[in-house]
Amino acid sequence: MAAGELTQDGRARVLADGNEIPLLALGVWQVPDGPECEDSVRWALEAGYRHIDTAQAYGNEASVGRALRDSGVAREDVFITTKFYPGSKDPEAEAQRSLERLGVDAVDLYIVHWPQGGPTWAWEGMQRAQRSGYARSIGISNFSASEVDELLKVAEVAPVVNQVQFSPFEFRRDLLTACEARGLALEAYSPLGTGRHLRDPQVAEIADRLNRTPAQVLIRWALQRGLIVLPKSTHRERIEQNAQVFDFELTSADVEALDGLDATGGTDRALEQPWW
Ligand SMILES: NC(=O)c1ccc[n+]([C@@H]2O[C@H](COP(=O)([O-])OP(=O)(O)OC[C@H]3O[C@@H](n4cnc5c(N)ncnc54)[C@H](OP(=O)(O)O)[C@@H]3O)[C@@H](O)[C@H]2O)c1
Repeated sequence: MAAGELTQDGRARVLADGNEIPLLALGVWQVPDGPECEDSVRWALEAGYRHIDTAQAYGNEASVGRALRDSGVAREDVFITTKFYPGSKDPEAEAQRSLERLGVDAVDLYIVHWPQGGPTWAWEGMQRAQRSGYARSIGISNFSASEVDELLKVAEVAPVVNQVQFSPFEFRRDLLTACEARGLALEAYSPLGTGRHLRDPQVAEIADRLNRTPAQVLIRWALQRGLIVLPKSTHRERIEQNAQVFDFELTSADVEALDGLDATGGTDRALEQPWW
């Protein structure tokens, strides 16, 4: 299958390096290490999720690994992403530590969490992590289009994803276009606006009309925009609800109405205000 295509069941996409990535992931930012994280990940795997998004900075890789082992789901059936914390020095050494915490031989995707110190310095170590077999795919997060271009000038192995804040309210259309044109799949983080966008009246109106929830509408919008989408919840019923997004469609009029909520001006920037 060619890069960018969906798999036959419509639930995964082929990355530029040929690896397949499930479109829906459970995100675990701000989920404390321990029972809360283990339960969330186990419930997600029971609900059919096959992709978990963690990071060195989240401090909960050990719980993700424990839940994966306890779930009984085979390691090769679950896509695990972790992220290099760019306050550290060596992505390869940090990848090895992540693998120890996760209790796995390799992660499926390892990404630079944000371009602190510039967009290029960490990449050589990311490539080494991949060559050592610690990560099947490598990518980036919070990179603007210009930073993607700077990186591509020096990269031997090109990044295959850019994970950025993305929702109808942050519809970074030019960044999406730039990433797709350069062979990077876009992963939408904070697709529910860390909960804020769930209260929007226009989202609620569409949800009521379709007999769905605001969360399902926002996740479905991301899927119909061709994105990989990473909602977070620690509540079992919400985790299950957020996965029920492959059995309905938004009309093009609803997708366009949601597009109109964008407050970024369709920017090619990853963030209005970097935190580093
Ligand atoms: N690369 C980066 O720099 C970066 C930055 C931010 C996020 N991320 C990734 O993206 C993931 C998601 O982003 P996010 O954590 O900002 O939040 P989000 O997924 O946009 O929203 C999560 C919030 O919505 C609530 N929620 C979820 N499903 C719901 C439902 N069906 N009904 C009602 N409320 C619901 C959650 O509450 P409960 O948990 O209480 O249910 C939580 O407060 C993160 O976990 C992380 O994996 C990456």
